[in-house]
Amino acid sequence: MISILLLGYGNVGQHLHRAMQGVTGVTVQQIYNRSFVENIETPQTQKLSDITEADVYIIAVPDDVIGDFSAKLPFRNKLVVHTSGGAHMEVLSNANRRGVFYPLQTFSKNTEVNFSTIPICVEAENKDDLKLLKKLGSSISKNVTEISSEEREQLHVAAVFINNFTNHLYHIAETISAKNKMEFDLLKPLIAETAKKIETLSPSQAQTGPAKRNDTKTIEKHLKLLEGSVYRELYEKLTESIKKSESFDTT
Ligand SMILES: NC(=O)c1ccc[n+]([C@@H]2O[C@H](COP(=O)([O-])OP(=O)(O)OC[C@H]3O[C@@H](n4cnc5c(N)ncnc54)[C@H](OP(=O)(O)O)[C@@H]3O)[C@@H](O)[C@H]2O)c1
Repeated sequence: MISILLLGYGNVGQHLHRAMQGVTGVTVQQIYNRSFVENIETPQTQKLSDITEADVYIIAVPDDVIGDFSAKLPFRNKLVVHTSGGAHMEVLSNANRRGVFYPLQTFSKNTEVNFSTIPICVEAENKDDLKLLKKLGSSISKNVTEISSEEREQLHVAAVFINNFTNHLYHIAETISAKNKMEFDLLKPLIAETAKKIETLSPSQAQTGPAKRNDTKTIEKHLKLLEGSVYRELYEKLTESIKKSESFDTT
């Protein structure tokens, strides 16, 4: 049995809790969170001094507080991991054995995710801990990969482009639709098809649009429509990036 202690009950903490509940061979024995968590049966505490013994301590707090938070843990030589894509393993205090358990997905509190398909990127300072993290990862996902902090940081940059920036572009499209009194729903099949296409084509093969075709007339028209808009500069930058993308090195 692998006993888990979850430290932090935000988006990731909650999803990990749900994913690990009822899994054979894993028990979430306690949750620590600064504020009281409603509607959970797992024992919880708001005091670091009341934290119990566990095999793995999973810190799921914002990146910029991981280091300070880990230094406050009142025990030594335990396996303590964080769940961040962007933070190096060594931000964790070296008072404990360090590791990473990074689920490569976007999590929001009230959306369901299927953990079995989520890649879990693991890293640890020593072999036995790595083995344990792989076993833990495999109990909730079919896709567990060992990745170094340096690789994970690069992966995180790629993930920000894919998820955060793409979603920001949806947001821009939503404001353009709303300003022109059109439903954002009209664009949803296009969003779905864009994501589906890269299952069979590489992103460079899937690229379409005026920038790819070097259709300067349409580009000029769009820039005119965006005159005075904060999105104009972004449109220009992305258009330039698509034009230059032939020379991107993907080897
Ligand atoms: N969200 C994602 O999509 C995602 C995906 C993969 C990995 N991650 C990583 O997972 C980690 C957690 O992210 P999240 O999205 O779950 O964050 P979050 O929803 O903002 O939750 C943060 C949790 O940390 C607690 N917290 C905040 N500041 C604290 C402090 N100074 N001391 C103690 N506890 C503190 C909060 O407690 P209160 O409830 O008391 O405020 C809350 O329980 C981050 O490292 C993030 O990079 C996130």
